[in-house]
Amino acid sequence: MPSAAKAIEYCRALAKFSEEPGRTTRTFLSPPMRDAHRLLGAWMERLGMRVNVDAAGNLRGVRGTGNRALVIGSHLDTVPDAGAFDGILGVVLGIALIEAIGKRAPGISIEAIGFSEEEGVRFGVPFIGSRAVAGTLNLEGLDERIVEAIRAFGLDPAELPTARLAADAVGYLEFHIEQGPVLEHMNLPLGIVDGIVGQSRLNFAFKGKANHAGTTPMAMRHDALAAAAEWIGRVEKLAGEAGLVATVGSIHVEPNATNVVPGLARVTLDARHGCDEKRRSSVKTLIGAALEIGERRGIEVEHTEKLDRPTMLMDEGMSGRLARAVEKAGFPVHHMTSGAGHDAMILAERVPAAMLFLRSPGGISHHPDESVRVEDVEAAIQTGVQFVVDMERASV
Ligand code: GLV
Ligand code: MN
Ligand code: MN
Repeated sequence: MPSAAKAIEYCRALAKFSEEPGRTTRTFLSPPMRDAHRLLGAWMERLGMRVNVDAAGNLRGVRGTGNRALVIGSHLDTVPDAGAFDGILGVVLGIALIEAIGKRAPGISIEAIGFSEEEGVRFGVPFIGSRAVAGTLNLEGLDERIVEAIRAFGLDPAELPTARLAADAVGYLEFHIEQGPVLEHMNLPLGIVDGIVGQSRLNFAFKGKANHAGTTPMAMRHDALAAAAEWIGRVEKLAGEAGLVATVGSIHVEPNATNVVPGLARVTLDARHGCDEKRRSSVKTLIGAALEIGERRGIEVEHTEKLDRPTMLMDEGMSGRLARAVEKAGFPVHHMTSGAGHDAMILAERVPAAMLFLRSPGGISHHPDESVRVEDVEAAIQTGVQFVVDMERASV
């Protein structure tokens, strides 16, 4: 079967490994993650790669023994009710690329990685897998639930330091669907990511007082959900004014009953901006707004910062090499910025990183309708082959 069609078939097969019947949801070290490891690990082994699962649950396979390693990866976890390509396609393409290179004597070794966690769905903490590989995930201070999940999967949290990227790694390459409409609008198959915007993630708890919905006068309520709702309106307004991209994507109400004034509302905030200063000051303003709303309504407001990830530029040398590879493969070169977070922004802290986007039909992602065109996957594989050939040449 042609490589691109095979890659898509793998992604579709992996989408069936889910925690929920009828839809794709595969979070950090959940049982279906084992199935993903099994399927991809077997493919890697057939290609003669040395396969292992590290202490953070990342699936890793190495081809060759050269003393300069190119790392190619993306994530295996998904959002709830996900599509079949976000993350997974990048992992599958790493292996498909190694298959396309075939038996040619390797001038460099290549490590393909399927990161265990990027989305942050299970514990509200994203990038667990890539941070372990970058060496920036410390066992000390790590959420006890994450440590327990690692143990429950049969891994040893004390071994986390051994997940660190090998010292001979010379670069990181990530293939990923664009997850937006730009490439499709420009009628382009591929895009070179120059930088990834920074993001903040926070949890807020609005703690009011549950009471009877029929007997408690409006002026005497401490309605946690009404307070959170007022704040959500502020988030949207400030985002519009400040050019921020901000989302309240999760809300949890207690006791969550029709005839009870809500006593507790837990909400999340995801805020992104290309300028870190602007993002941080906007988040500060939003925390202030939550406190002010709480004060006025007699509601206690708590917030916890889960992530503050700066805007990360990709490596110019690696991106230049990627642009040449796109050109050599016969496709137009287009540079762009990523509004979505990616493992590349974590790896870029440790090793020169580059990223290639594939056009997203309809600009749809984080949705079961997410798709990719077979000819764009083929274009990415051809580009990847050129990229590796160029790296091999540079290493001799
Ligand atoms: C990753 O999918 C993100 O939320 O940017
Ligand atoms: Mn995603
Ligand atoms: Mn992704």
